This record gives sequence, structure tokens and C-alpha cells, in this order.
Amino acid sequence: MRRKEEEEEEEDEVHNMFMCAPTAAAATFASFDDEYISNSVIKDSETTVLQTELEETVREMYLKNDEEEDVCGARRTSPTTSSSRTKRTFNLERTKHVEYCLRNVRELHPTYVSLNSSRTWIVYWLVHSLGVLGELDLEEDLRADVVEFLASCQHESGGFGGGPGQLAHLAPTYAAMSALVTIGTKEAMAVVDVGKLRAWLMRLKTVTTTTRKEDGEDVVVGSFAMHVDGESDVRGSYCALAVAHLCKVLDEELTRGVANYVAECQTHEGGFAGEPGAEAHGGYAYCGIATLVLCDMVVEKKKNETTAKNNKKKIKQSEYKIGVDLDAFEEWLVHRQCGVEGGFNGRTNKLCDGCYSFWIGASFPLLEMVRGGKESKQLLFEERTMEDLTSVPPIASNRDEDGMDAAGDAIGTSTRDDDECLFLGTLRDTAAEMCNLKEENSLTIEVNNDDDAKIQKKPLARTRLSFNARALQGWILGCCQSEKGGLRDKPGKSADFYHTCYCLSGLSVAQWYGELPVLAGGNATAKERKANVVEKTNVLLNVVESKYTNWMDNFGGDIDME
Ligand code: FPP
Ligand code: ZN
Repeated sequence: MRRKEEEEEEEDEVHNMFMCAPTAAAATFASFDDEYISNSVIKDSETTVLQTELEETVREMYLKNDEEEDVCGARRTSPTTSSSRTKRTFNLERTKHVEYCLRNVRELHPTYVSLNSSRTWIVYWLVHSLGVLGELDLEEDLRADVVEFLASCQHESGGFGGGPGQLAHLAPTYAAMSALVTIGTKEAMAVVDVGKLRAWLMRLKTVTTTTRKEDGEDVVVGSFAMHVDGESDVRGSYCALAVAHLCKVLDEELTRGVANYVAECQTHEGGFAGEPGAEAHGGYAYCGIATLVLCDMVVEKKKNETTAKNNKKKIKQSEYKIGVDLDAFEEWLVHRQCGVEGGFNGRTNKLCDGCYSFWIGASFPLLEMVRGGKESKQLLFEERTMEDLTSVPPIASNRDEDGMDAAGDAIGTSTRDDDECLFLGTLRDTAAEMCNLKEENSLTIEVNNDDDAKIQKKPLARTRLSFNARALQGWILGCCQSEKGGLRDKPGKSADFYHTCYCLSGLSVAQWYGELPVLAGGNATAKERKANVVEKTNVLLNVVESKYTNWMDNFGGDIDME
């Protein structure tokens, strides 16, 4: 039993903490209500005001009268049903975007001088955007110029800077390497000094041992600084392992403890922050989950070999399976999709933004790669054909009262033939539904059950992802394309290179990993859908998949290409 004085002391403390006089409590609460309601003391926060405005703008854009032109100047189709809503078209303005990127990759206007230390990034954003748009081979002179420029950004002690003569930094190193992969010529492959790059990466690495609070275990934690004497964060882990993978020097010395660092970056919300203790954010979340995939991709060294050239991967039980809550991460990802806009925001209570179409969108398949582990990487996402992407979906009459189509398929039926109500109401249900279909939509492996020696099927990873990919395409095509070419953060903003790159990359993820078919409008034919199809991007590195394959097949070997 506690003593009365102790109880009174505690009560006083509570009163002090909330600064209200104990005797007047009831009256205070009543007057609070009056004051707040009658004098409008409660005001919407700035974010709420902006969110409401954005939702209104977006609703208007999605539901505009069909006589009007849409955001990109394309005509809407006439309504074919008596529905009051308009069946609209969603056109990728490919030519305009290609022109925008080519113009700027050829010559950057002097107003970009403030981005002097991001020039390797600008090259990557533009050449990768061109690749996603299907412009896979730039003209020879331009390719040579780009390679020469990137070579001039390589530091004599390894790594790349943001421009010629600048400090080597992991972010522009990742950008320069990805641009070289996208160019993909033998000249591009000859640029990087792999030995110096690896030595520089090891200079950036710090390994510490900490004792885990939960179980008293000693845990090795490894992280990378962004540059010599610079700050460490999860971008560093991702960029370091990504470039090491592309140079085929990703080994256990580089990955040691890194998964534990990522685990330390997971927050109470389930997402990953830039560093332990910070707020979960879309960009860092991508880096976190991609790093976990990379940790499982170490190259097995041959005996007496320091730089492994073979591509054989080693199967290893990962430490992070203990430290990271993958279900919590999925839940955090699912909540990033905005119910009216259809795109993603980057963190709780923030606005929808086109760039997260990639950072969050690509995190869904990466999560499944982590869940599925080594065994599933090849099996998880089977190759899609153009026919898969563009086949005209079943007509509405095939659907029964439960919303099932003729094949008894509940997922996506609400959006499949019903583009006009894609964005209003169905979105959350669809995502939640997918999230719950764990077993039905899972890749399974056969495991031996020791007790009765029976082979059982164990779900490994989901084969259908927990986001509404058609709503995401609607956001990108309907709200993020600028009339003048290039893509943007959101309506009202100008296009820029960064958002062009990540909106197009997100569109690619939605088309190649999300539910089918690609979005083009309610009555779109296969031909019309085909006009919207972009190249498949590799979700781990964000380079066009065919460019990645070309690089991995030829880099570091006997290069013999035309
Ligand atoms: C905006 O934060 C955030 C960004 C512009 C970049 C986020 C991206 C990353 C951290 C990924 C980096 C990846 C690599 C490979 C280096 P904000 O606070 O302005 O935006 P918000 O309001 O949407 O949160
Ligand atoms: Zn953005």
C-alpha cells in the first residue's frame, strides 16, 4: 500500500505538469470548450490547409468536364456510360519529355550554376529518364561527351565528385556509376578505377560493437560516411554497397554490420530514418530496404583472389531478419499512398509528391525480395510481356455481386474496368485488401516438417504488392506531367530533372510490378495502352533493366562489344 502523502505528492506533480488549478478543473474544461468553439481558436495547421487545397485541385483534375483539355493538352474521350463521371484518358507525353531531357543533357542553361556540385546527378537524372522513355541509345557524340564528363569527375583517390575537381562523395559516386551503366558502352565501362574505389569505400566505413538492450547480445554495426570526415547515414550504406555491387567487389568486409545499422534506423512507425533516432522518410526508407537486399548479394571470392570477377552469390542467413520488423515496414509503406491523389507522400502528415512514386513504389518489391530471401529473387517477379501489360481488361458484366470477376479474382476488379472512380474511395480498400491476402498471394517454398516428415508449403513473400499501382499511374500521368515537358512534384510546381527521373521511374515500377494492365483510360485499346508503356527499371539500382544486364554481363570481363 502506498502512503497517502506519496499519493498527494504525485497528484501535485500531475497538476503542476499540466499547469491547472485542481479546484477549478471542471469549470476550466467547460470554458475551454466554449472558448475554442465560439472564438475559433482551433485553426487548421498549415499542412492541413495545403492538403485540403491539393485534394481539391487533384479532384478537379481527375473529374473535369470531358469537353475540357486535360493537364497535358490531350483530349478526353467521350463518356460512354450514363455515369456522371467522365471516363478520361491518361496519356504519357513521351515526345515532350524526351525533348526536355535531350535539350538539357546537350546543354545546361547558365541558371543552373547553383547546382554546380550536382552535375553528376543531373547527368544521371536525364540519361536515365531518357532510358525509361525508351531512348536507350543516345547519339554517339553525346554518349562520348557524357562519358568524358563523368570521367573528369572521378577523384584521383577513388570515387566521384559532383563535378570536375570536386571532393569525392558517395551520392555523386552512385549517380556517376548509374549514368555509366545507363550509357553502357565499353568506353563507359573503362572509366571507373575499381581498386581505388574499393579502397576509398573502406576509408568511409566505420564498424562499432554495441550491446543490444533487448537481449544483451553484442552486435556489430557498420556504416558509411558520405565523404571522408563526413556524416554517416543510410544513404551512405546504400550508395557504397550499390557501387560496390556494380563494380563486382561487394564482399563481406564491406557488408559487415551494415544490416544492423539499417535495423537501428527503423523507427516506431515502421519506416526507416536517415540515421538512428530520426524520422522515417521515403527516401531513406528506400535506401534502408535496398541496402538489406544488397547485404545478401556478396560476391564469393575465389581462393587467393582479392577482386572477385565471378558473379556467384553466396547464400547466407542474414542478421537483419532478427532486427527489422518487415510487417511494420509494409504497414508504414501502405500508409504512404494518398487516398485522393493516388501517389505517395514521404512521411506522415506530409503532402503527396511525385518523386516518392519511385522511393516508396520501389520499396514494395524490394521488401518482398528481403522477405523471400535468396531463394526467391529470381522467382518473385516473373517477366511480363507487352501483351500482359496492355491486354484490354474484362468488361464490367463479368463481375458478380461480390466484386469478383469471371476468374474469381477479387483484387483489382474495382479498378480494372472502372478508371473513372479509381481515385475516390476504392484506393484504401484495395491496398488493405492486398495487404491481408498474405497466403493467397505468396510465393511458397517446400519445407520439411521434422515432426511428421511431411512436406509443407511455407509462404515466403508476396507476389502481389500492397499498393494500388493504377492509382499511382493516374497521379503521375494526370497530375505530375508538365505541359512544357518534364515531370514535377505536384500540380502548381514546375518540372525539374529530379522529379522527371523519379516520376518516370515510379511509373515504370507501377507498370512492371503493380497490377495489370497499364493505365491509359477507361476505354483504352491495347494500342493506346502500349503508347504509355515505359521501359522496366531495376528496382534495386534504378537503372533500366536491360542496361543493368548489359553492364553485369560485360563489366570487368573481356569486353568484346560492338
Ligand atoms: C525532401 O524532404 C527529400 C528529398 C528531396 C530527398 C529524399 C531522398 C532521399 C533521402 C534518397 C536519397 C537517395 C540516394 C540514392 C542518395 P522534404 O522534407 O523537403 O520533403 P517532404 O515534405 O516530402 O518530407
Ligand atoms: Zn519530391
